[in-house]
Amino acid sequence: MLDYAPQANCLDNKVILVTGAGDGIGKAAAISYATHGAEVILLGKTTEKLEKVYDEIVALGAKEPAIVPLDMQGATKQHYLGMAQTIEDMFGRLDGLLHNASQLGTIMPFEQWPQEKFEKVMQVNVNAQFMMTQALLPLLKKSACGSVIFTSSSVGRKGRAFWGGYAISKFATEGMMQVLADEFDNTAMRFNCINPGATATKMRAVAYPAEDPSSIAQPADIMPVYLYLMDDVSQSVSGQSLNAQQN
Ligand SMILES: NC(=O)c1ccc[n+]([C@@H]2O[C@H](COP(=O)([O-])OP(=O)(O)OC[C@H]3O[C@@H](n4cnc5c(N)ncnc54)[C@H](OP(=O)(O)O)[C@@H]3O)[C@@H](O)[C@H]2O)c1
Repeated sequence: MLDYAPQANCLDNKVILVTGAGDGIGKAAAISYATHGAEVILLGKTTEKLEKVYDEIVALGAKEPAIVPLDMQGATKQHYLGMAQTIEDMFGRLDGLLHNASQLGTIMPFEQWPQEKFEKVMQVNVNAQFMMTQALLPLLKKSACGSVIFTSSSVGRKGRAFWGGYAISKFATEGMMQVLADEFDNTAMRFNCINPGATATKMRAVAYPAEDPSSIAQPADIMPVYLYLMDDVSQSVSGQSLNAQQN
């Protein structure tokens, strides 16, 4: 599926929510889903960034997206329930959910990882995904073929020194995906993880400041697997930890 070539209109009639849609991989995924026919719901922290993505999607002639400005750091269960109600009122269902927004925190020895930063990373990368998924499951159940994608990392599959809270949060993300995939086995819903691999974004630049961003994949390059898992062709694929790149 790394070279998956989707039909131009493969996501027609799908409603897909993307978190962290204002920048990096989430922005590329939102644009890619929209240009393949989906109505996308752009969720993110910075409204101006979401508005720019909205303008880009409209300029491409794709369906008009919806915008949900939300800081997942402070959002509570009530915020997610309110959002779910709004999506139900607007669309009646949800066909796809890409959990993409994440915090890196910091890279330093475990002994020094500040507890406050650890809690912030876990809040955005794990707790918020838990609350959002719970709130949106009733709407996903209304889809004929619902797909939930979680975003993992290589450090969420094999622990790595100094990646502390971020790595731990990605292991939790893989776990959440597996629990859901098992619970919803033999239903119309599927749950999978993608490890994007090294991709030129702001988060990557913070983690690897000396790296030349042109030497690694750009967000648009890694879209085949993101499209594959939203497209009905992957209907029977669930509980998988996939990579978006060869290495
Ligand atoms: N890039 C890589 O090489 C790489 C490798 C492995 C895994 N990943 C994973 O891929 C995903 C996307 O990462 P990226 O590299 O595209 O990162 P990025 O460029 O930093 O983008 C992250 C996005 O998440 C949003 N976000 C962060 N905190 C948020 C919050 N509290 N509430 C709402 N939105 C929030 C950001 O919004 P603002 O822009 O408004 O702050 C931004 O749009 C992450 O899950 C990351 O862990 C990336």
